[in-house]
Amino acid sequence: MFVQILGSAAGGGFPQWNCNCANCAGFRNGSLRAQARTQSSIAISDDGVSWVLCNASPDIRAQLQSFAPMQPGRALRDTGIGAIILMDSQIDHTTGLLSLREGCPHQVWCTDMVHEDLSTGFPLFNMLTHWNGGLSWNRIELDQSFTVQACPNLRFTPLPLRSAAPPYSPHRFDPHPGDNIGLIVEDLRTGGKLFYAPGLGQVDGPLLEIMAGSDCLLVDGTMWDDDEMQRRGVGTRTGREMGHLAQNGPGGMLEVLEQLPGPRKVLIHINNTNPILDEDSPERAELVRRKIEVAYDGMSIEL
Ligand code: MLT
Ligand code: MN
Ligand code: ZN
Repeated sequence: MFVQILGSAAGGGFPQWNCNCANCAGFRNGSLRAQARTQSSIAISDDGVSWVLCNASPDIRAQLQSFAPMQPGRALRDTGIGAIILMDSQIDHTTGLLSLREGCPHQVWCTDMVHEDLSTGFPLFNMLTHWNGGLSWNRIELDQSFTVQACPNLRFTPLPLRSAAPPYSPHRFDPHPGDNIGLIVEDLRTGGKLFYAPGLGQVDGPLLEIMAGSDCLLVDGTMWDDDEMQRRGVGTRTGREMGHLAQNGPGGMLEVLEQLPGPRKVLIHINNTNPILDEDSPERAELVRRKIEVAYDGMSIEL
């Protein structure tokens, strides 16, 4: 399977438009060696022609433009997007659907909880019905693998994860299974297995086993420190409150990944405050030492 990283940053992107933290300011004034990153989205394909978009970010237009296979040009109006799978109903993962309205109807796969958020607090499913039928909902059952017509050789298995519903969600403080999922994506021909979880708040034993059996982990790299927003003086919310397991500290993502010698390890959904964005930082050197990669826009992975 082909995995294309369209956007590797968390909500806000890097640099974030209104942010003057050390990373964002350093990037703008040229003192920081780092790459700009757009907001969280990947595309997956079994043939390199038809793609499953995982999350639709507000940067979708630029992301599609920067990756030619997503615009195959087989007809006057055309797209490589065959289906869209949503990991959650967060703004950085769903607002791109508005920008895709010209191509409706779209096949959208998401859980009951995400569909509910996107029909109430942020009613995209209702709104977009006015554009050529809008979004066709395909329900993700939490205990059931599924396939999509566009990529028949891929099998998707959802994993309900401990993370958080978005701030606008009617059940923000009342978590339910299906608010956030991870995905196991298997290529039935090559046997390649991807584990994708841009929002991962907690890793328990069974999940660790699933991760151990994957060829590549594309996992939550939002924050280095749980209190990073405070440390950088840009906010008060912790990673934990937002459903993101920080890399550093006891029980952090570094310790989780340390237990998994087999798979390729790639961090994604990087917040603009995270020191790993600075390619000369000691934190980045620590990742290199641990053979953990940092996803970047335009990165391709073949499994
Ligand atoms: C998250 O990943 O926690 C959210 O996207 C944060 C946000 O609302 O920007
Ligand atoms: Mn996010
Ligand atoms: Zn910043």
